[in-house]
Amino acid sequence: MTTSFDHAAQVLTPPEPGLEYLRADRAKELGLEPGGITVEHGRISALEPTKDANIHVDATGCALLPGLVDCHTHLPFAGWRAEEYEQKVTGVPYEEIAKAGGGIRSSARALREAPDEAVLAQAQQIAGEMLRAGTTTFECKSGYGLSTAGELRSLRLATALEHLVDQTTTRTALLAHAVPDGYTTATWMDEVEAMVPQAIAQAGVTALDIFVESIAFGLDDLDRMGTLAEQHDLTLRAHVEQFTTMRSVPIALSHNARSLDHLAAIHPDDIAPLARSQTAAVLLPGAEFMGSEATAPARALIDAGAIVVLATDGNPGTSPIFSLPTIIGLAVRRYGLSTKEALLATTLNAAYVLNQQSNLGSIEEGKRADVIMLDCPAEHVAYRLGRDPVAATFVAGEPVYVRPDAAWRIMEG
Ligand code: NIG
Ligand code: FE
Repeated sequence: MTTSFDHAAQVLTPPEPGLEYLRADRAKELGLEPGGITVEHGRISALEPTKDANIHVDATGCALLPGLVDCHTHLPFAGWRAEEYEQKVTGVPYEEIAKAGGGIRSSARALREAPDEAVLAQAQQIAGEMLRAGTTTFECKSGYGLSTAGELRSLRLATALEHLVDQTTTRTALLAHAVPDGYTTATWMDEVEAMVPQAIAQAGVTALDIFVESIAFGLDDLDRMGTLAEQHDLTLRAHVEQFTTMRSVPIALSHNARSLDHLAAIHPDDIAPLARSQTAAVLLPGAEFMGSEATAPARALIDAGAIVVLATDGNPGTSPIFSLPTIIGLAVRRYGLSTKEALLATTLNAAYVLNQQSNLGSIEEGKRADVIMLDCPAEHVAYRLGRDPVAATFVAGEPVYVRPDAAWRIMEG
């Protein structure tokens, strides 16, 4: 089975094959030139079209990008928290909502009360929306379980979700998200320690995560999570410096964290060491915008050569946004990113965070043909903010979503 993508106005390509990631100060080296792609048996076989194909995709006037990778979501979860959003916009701070039993705890209650089928149905519906917005890979996290049984259930649901969606998914155990009632951070970390082997055995977890914040876990807990990740050969990720400057970065770097996420309140002295490291800086402009948070110093991180990544942080509290095109639009405006910087941050570098970079994240020979076709130049994604630019989404070369007005573009023979 051969598919040829013909006559594209733009094809996003890396400067060289085999890159694990590309530091953001090199984003300008990405190609965004006219061209085509040949796909054979689900993989990209040539960076040019072929006449000899079973399927031809007429990409005239379109941009071809690698499928977008959302490396930070809190799927699966139960219900939403729209009433809290109204409290927040009318002046009640997040910390206060959380202390009054809202926030993470309220989503934990909702998850406990929801049957498995309802949780999966909601997540499946959201995954469908993500596909229509061009996301072909996303991360699932636990974190709303707040008990050993609850966290393990959440991870098992994430495993079940993988079989219900068209996307590639990964599982991260966010075992330290909020401190459950009756525990201190330290006694809860004892539970976490006991839970990790089960999380690996039951759900194929590849990463551990922790929320380091004045209202959540501290630097000692981060250090301990880093050691646990090392002991179990898992990737360390961490929610850090979201509201408060905690100085988590040096500790996370000492454990070779794969990513540090949020960073709106990062200390200026921590920017250069982070930028020099192989730890990705995952910026979450949806949470910043919806929570009226501080703005992460994206430009400084990019110019210092960090591995900069953008993600939705999709969750029912701080960022109920699951569209990476929307996130790109917010990032370009708020952070001052170029189109290529934003695209790099939602493709190859995001795949690196999920350790999928050898298979996904760029249009290059041998990689899986996860490709999206935009009905416009790539520059329009950010510029025409809020519009859906995706005409079709392909996973392993198969069209898994085709917008009706683009159906004519896909032809047999
Ligand atoms: O990434 N910061 C902590 N955790 C989530 C929010 C979770 C929630 O409010 O439900 C985040 O923003
Ligand atoms: Fe998050």
